[in-house]
Amino acid sequence: MQSSNQISTEILRPLKKKIPNKSQRASGFSSRSTAEEVTHGVDGTGLTAIVTGASSGIGVETARVLALRGVHVVMAVRNTGAGAKVKEDIVKQVPGAKVDVMELELSSMESVRKFASEYKSAGLPLNLLINNAGIMACPFMLSKDNIELQFATNHLGHFLLTKLLLDTMKNTSRESKREGRIVNVSSEAHRYSYPEGVRFDKINDESSYSSIRAYGQSKLCNVLHANELAKQLKEDGVNITANSLHPGAIMTNLWGYFNSYLAGAVGAVAKYMVKSVPQGAATTCYVALNPQVAGVTGEYFSDSNIAKPIELVKDTELAKKLWDFSTKLTDSQ
Ligand SMILES: NC(=O)c1ccc[n+]([C@@H]2O[C@H](COP(=O)([O-])OP(=O)(O)OC[C@H]3O[C@@H](n4cnc5c(N)ncnc54)[C@H](OP(=O)(O)O)[C@@H]3O)[C@@H](O)[C@H]2O)c1
Repeated sequence: MQSSNQISTEILRPLKKKIPNKSQRASGFSSRSTAEEVTHGVDGTGLTAIVTGASSGIGVETARVLALRGVHVVMAVRNTGAGAKVKEDIVKQVPGAKVDVMELELSSMESVRKFASEYKSAGLPLNLLINNAGIMACPFMLSKDNIELQFATNHLGHFLLTKLLLDTMKNTSRESKREGRIVNVSSEAHRYSYPEGVRFDKINDESSYSSIRAYGQSKLCNVLHANELAKQLKEDGVNITANSLHPGAIMTNLWGYFNSYLAGAVGAVAKYMVKSVPQGAATTCYVALNPQVAGVTGEYFSDSNIAKPIELVKDTELAKKLWDFSTKLTDSQ
C-alpha cells in the first residue's frame, strides 16, 4: 500500500514543473492561454463534435468554446440531468449555440454500443471526437463488464466508442473534404503507470492494485491508443488525425478521491501551478480546432504545444498489443 506522502509526491511531480513563458513556445500559446484564446478567429461552423464527460470540469468549457466557434456539440454524458443544465448555461451564454445531450456510460460496453447506435441512427456527421471523460485514483472497483474501473472508463470505453464511430468519421471527412480529429485527453500521470507499463495479465489483480498507478496506466493507454490509431489512419490514407494531450493540473471534481492531506498539499502549490478551467480546456480546443495542428497526428500535446511523452509510448509493439488486447476485451462482451 502506498502512503499519502508517496502518493502526493508522485501526483504533484508534474505540477512542480516550471511554467515556461509564452515566448518560449512554438505555437505562440502557453500554459496560461485559455480555450477562447487558442481558438480565436477559428470558424468551426459546419463541424460536429462529440465531447465525452461534458457535464463537469474541463469538458464543460471544451463544449462551450467549441459551440462558441460554431461547432455543433454533442455532449456525451452519464448524467443527462447535469448535461441538460450545462447545455442550458451554454445556450444562454452563446446565442445560437447548437448543443445536444446524449447518454453515455463509458464503463458499460452496452451503454457505449447504445450511444454509438443512436448517434448513427440520428444520421449526424462526426468531425471531432473528444475523448475527455475520466476518473482518477478510485479504490479498486470493477465495471459492469467486470474490468478494473479506471482502465474500463478511461481507456476501454473510449477505445470502443472510437472504434464504433470511426466509419462515421471516415464518411464525414470524405464527404465534407475536411480533416477529422480524434483527441484523447490523457495526463502527465501516464508517466506513473506500473513499472511494466500496461499489466495485460493483471488488469483485475486487486492484491497489487495501486489507485495512482492504475490511473497512470489508463492515461498511458490513452496515449498508446492515439498513437496506434494515428499509425493505422495514416497507413489507410484516411483524412483523420489522432493525438493525445495533458490538459494541465486543474482543481476539478476529478480530485475527489484524494484525502484531505493531499488536498492541503495541492492547495499549497495551487496558486502557482494550477490552471483555471478555461486554461485547462485550452490544449483540447487547440488540438481539436486550431489550423496550426492540421495534418499533425500521433503527437502528445501539453500547454497547446507538442510535448514529449514517456519513451515507452514509442514502443509500437506495445501499442499494437494494447490494441489487440482491447479489441479482444470489447469483442468478448
Ligand atoms: N483536472 C486535472 O488536473 C487533470 C489533469 C490531467 C488530466 N486530466 C484529464 O482530464 C479529463 C477531464 O477531467 P476533469 O478534470 O474535467 O474531471 P471532472 O470534472 O471530474 O470531469 C470528468 C467527466 O468525466 C465524466 N465521467 C466519469 N466517469 C464516467 C463514465 N463512467 N461514463 C461517462 N462519463 C464519465 C464525469 O461525469 P460525472 O459528472 O457524471 O461524474 C465528468 O463529466 C480526464 O480524462 C482527466 O483524466 C485532468
